[in-house]
Amino acid sequence: MDIFVIQGGRRLSGTVRVSGAKNAVLPLMAASLLADGPVEIAGTPRLRDISTLGKILEYMGASVETASDGGDGREVVRIDPAGIRKPEAPYDLVKTMRASVLVLGPLVARHGRARISLPGGCAIGARPIDQHLKGLERMGARTSLSEGYVEVETSRLSGAVICFDMKTVTGTENLMMAATLAKGTTVLSNAAREPEVCCLAGALRSMGADIEGEGSDEIVVRGVPALRGVRHEVIPDRIEASTLLLAGAITGGDVTVSGAVPSAMDAVLQKLAESGAEISTVPGGVRVRREGPIRSVNVETSPYPGFPTDIQAQFMAYMCLGDGESKVRETIFENRFMHVAELRRMGARIDVSGNTAEVKGVAALSGAPLMATDLRASASLVLAGLAASGTTEVLRIYHLDRGYESLENKLSSLGACISRVKE
Ligand code: EPZ
Repeated sequence: MDIFVIQGGRRLSGTVRVSGAKNAVLPLMAASLLADGPVEIAGTPRLRDISTLGKILEYMGASVETASDGGDGREVVRIDPAGIRKPEAPYDLVKTMRASVLVLGPLVARHGRARISLPGGCAIGARPIDQHLKGLERMGARTSLSEGYVEVETSRLSGAVICFDMKTVTGTENLMMAATLAKGTTVLSNAAREPEVCCLAGALRSMGADIEGEGSDEIVVRGVPALRGVRHEVIPDRIEASTLLLAGAITGGDVTVSGAVPSAMDAVLQKLAESGAEISTVPGGVRVRREGPIRSVNVETSPYPGFPTDIQAQFMAYMCLGDGESKVRETIFENRFMHVAELRRMGARIDVSGNTAEVKGVAALSGAPLMATDLRASASLVLAGLAASGTTEVLRIYHLDRGYESLENKLSSLGACISRVKE
């Protein structure tokens, strides 16, 4: 297994391009199952989660091809669903990438049935899918659980009013996709408002779907008889962009992330500014500079447009070097403090009580061998290693490779001393 070796203490500076958003590509790939023709997704990053979902679509009988798309590492994924014969997703693939649940809605809508391995939990929480299933049941589907699989079937989905008990990103995406081919109108109330949901709605609309309200709490979908293939450009990854800006801020550097969309990152940019970093919007990107001390600020995660849970771990690493005390409250997932024990090994002072971590800033962190546990916790450890004195080794980097495309190359281009080593 690969590890990252980081020599900390260097100020990062320069410009780096953000990749396409993993959490926008995955639902777009699932949406291809709805189409009567091939779907091309342009601007996709080379990530393990994306190739895993591609394998699941191939298992079903779809053809999946990737080709380079313009040279700078971006790819186009081309999916032709015509060969779908087996609307099933097996455990050995789903267990490595729980967002596979996104194929459920499209399969039931297009083929009248689906058999998906229950995704199960992961390091950050139980990750249930009850909202997905309740929504499909309200649309007339019958669901059953057996041998770790969920089976869903229907003669044809009917439009329904579905009110989510909580904001769920993939729940909103799954049911929005299912509703595009249902008979009648579906209203999704308390819908998630993430940019990735809006990107999916835009793609579905260009395929012929009748959707309005994405980006608000209520999405209305009027069913249509069929959807056509399309080529759709994926949005930039706001989580990767925020992570790269935090790399500039934590090292006291001057970093510009080209391709970043400021309006999709407001909550993070505001907290960076409150912490004393200088944020500026430049043509085609966002720039961060920090010369003074890191001011400790409080953070509470919440659904978009609030502070993203996917940046909580990375921001906590930054607050470890703050000039006072910072409260970090995680309200989305029940176990998203796996990075705390590792940060403590670098000298961080963090006390956790329930879903709140109290971070007392220290003057410096010291490098150490660390263990990555989940995707965003891994990024947190890399950021801490960039700012720490001495050498940091981050083990089990495969967690990071799920959601960051060649992060070590991006950071090296900004002056970091980081290398990937085979263990
Ligand atoms: C999406 O996960 C993202 N993944 C996650 O990113 C992100 O952290 C999360 O949204 C929150 O923003 C993708 O888009 C592929 P949720 P998702 O359904 O949809 C509870 C990353 O690092 N819930 O919005 O699975 C759930 O337990 C990943 O890239 C139910 O109880 O998250 C959680 O507490 C990690 N029942 C809350 O809702 C359900 O049926 C929000 O989860 C569904 C969700």
